[in-house]
Amino acid sequence: MCGIVGYTGDQQAAPILLAGLEKLEYRGYDSAGLAVRDGERVPEVVKAKGRLRALAEKTDNGRAMRGNCGIGHTRWATHGEPSENNAHPHCTDDRSVVAVHNGIIENYQEIREKLIKNGYTFYSDTDTEVAVKLIDHYYKKYNEGPLDAMARAMMRIRGTYALAVMFKDYPEEIFVARQDNPMIIGVGEGESFIASDVPPLLPYTRKVYYIGNQELGRLHKGEVTFYNIDQEEIQKELVTIEWDAEAAEKGGYEHFMIKEIHEQPRAVRDTLNSVIRDGHIDLTEAGLSDDVIRSLKRIYIVACGSAYHAGVAAQYVIEDLARIPVRVELASEFRYRNPILEENSLVIIISQSGETADSLAALRLAKSQGVPTMAIVNVVGSTIAREADHIFYTLAGPEIAVATTKAYSTQLVAGYLLGVQFAHVRGTITEEKYEELLAALQELPDQIAKLLEDDKERIQWFAAKYANAKDVFFIGRGIDYAVSMEGSLKLKEISYIHSEAYAAGELKHGTISLIEDGILVVSILTQEALYEKMISNMVEVKCRGAYLMGLTTAGNYNIEDTVDFAVYIPKTDEHFTPSLAVVPLQLLGYYVSVSKGLDVDKPRNLAKSVTVE
Ligand code: G6P
Repeated sequence: MCGIVGYTGDQQAAPILLAGLEKLEYRGYDSAGLAVRDGERVPEVVKAKGRLRALAEKTDNGRAMRGNCGIGHTRWATHGEPSENNAHPHCTDDRSVVAVHNGIIENYQEIREKLIKNGYTFYSDTDTEVAVKLIDHYYKKYNEGPLDAMARAMMRIRGTYALAVMFKDYPEEIFVARQDNPMIIGVGEGESFIASDVPPLLPYTRKVYYIGNQELGRLHKGEVTFYNIDQEEIQKELVTIEWDAEAAEKGGYEHFMIKEIHEQPRAVRDTLNSVIRDGHIDLTEAGLSDDVIRSLKRIYIVACGSAYHAGVAAQYVIEDLARIPVRVELASEFRYRNPILEENSLVIIISQSGETADSLAALRLAKSQGVPTMAIVNVVGSTIAREADHIFYTLAGPEIAVATTKAYSTQLVAGYLLGVQFAHVRGTITEEKYEELLAALQELPDQIAKLLEDDKERIQWFAAKYANAKDVFFIGRGIDYAVSMEGSLKLKEISYIHSEAYAAGELKHGTISLIEDGILVVSILTQEALYEKMISNMVEVKCRGAYLMGLTTAGNYNIEDTVDFAVYIPKTDEHFTPSLAVVPLQLLGYYVSVSKGLDVDKPRNLAKSVTVE
């Protein structure tokens, strides 16, 4: 989704803004723009459709835009097609107000009509231009300055926004406002920054403020003041970001995705080590006491995309080990179906970004019904992390590729840790089993590393062979079905090959009619009790012409009698096999996309952080 950057200081703003937007490219966008001003002069606005490269060329890498104060934007179209005209920044005709915006103004039509009556005209199809002109309207009508105009606009606007605004009469200053869309303010020596996410700030500063909902900020060079919507000054805590700048760079890898795949052993180890202390799982930092765990009657896991798939895996683990009923739901469904949340329930929201609009709405819905909430989140200080009652941070570090890999892997591990600990506290597993499970968990990082070492080239070869496939099926039973869903999503989102995940036993009920000669069926079978059932399902598709890839545990070598291409994962406890099985599937998606010459890290139409519903 849209990315925002801003700068005011003594350096030239445009190159800093462009570099910042480059770091936000992963969010997904289809046009970009900058507004930069030199002292008291009105801002110069330059926009370009398509990749950031086009904007960089147009501005001679920013050198052609002089000035020390500016805002920038990458736009992911919501209102109006991707075009230069609809790209941000948007401004009034006299450029007295210039702004960038991330989010959606729901009542923009109604406001637009009001403004037309007041003599305004519109050059774009965007809701943002409406917001800019509304601010301008209040600014000129009441003559009470930028904060007043913005606060009035905030009261009139329905929807979500992260707004950064420059006013002609206020050189070297940027005004910001926020409602449900991410925005971070960084401060350095004599300079201040705005960004939608941490990576653009890292080369300059680690000192940041998180601006809250319905709050405003006024940025001067190296100094920021915050206000509530009544324009009363409020104090905010200056937070230090721990991520290092290198973590947000490609570090010699061709793409972020492959770099992040290789970071999984580290990410999983860090996440495990954050809660395993002296041979025990300790969830006190998440604030989950043993009494709360014992009282749980039901768990709801709510998430979107891959985080939802991690939730499906967690459901199998928690139900099987801790015997607590778990229901997993897509956040976009949960939030509108008026769910009945029983007493002694826990709602767990899983989200890498901590900003996904539907997941955030689901969290708020649960809270409004008085149900305790827990968030499994990667981005520290994100909205979901701040609003949940309990927080379990996954320690994946910054994830840049749109297709998640390491964050998903850490979400899986968070789910296992909860399952094992809930089981231990509730006495549904023995002390011996607990120790066994903990030992198996701690082996996972090395096992993932080994898989990456052993399998990469074979999968690369196989991916090149299947790069022209039209349809692919992923099948599995039990927890392998959860992995099938993630494997299928990985392939389709970055290779644009249609693929579907099916519970293997369900194929016969319709889908098998799609199987024809040469179609690739990726079968995952890591569960001993389901192994033979899976083989039967695989034979059913094979005899109808399918080409079979089998993904199973080392030792099941007889699989080679059935499949055309076998991949083995190391032995682990059967609850934890998703962490290993997903690795070859991530590699498969990655290498198919590379073979097809596609934009692996920034697949078309997708966004990393989906801040609109
Ligand atoms: C987007 C991303 C997915 C991600 C989903 C949920 O669609 O492209 O990779 O799984 O959002 O995001 P979250 O940040 O809540 O985990």
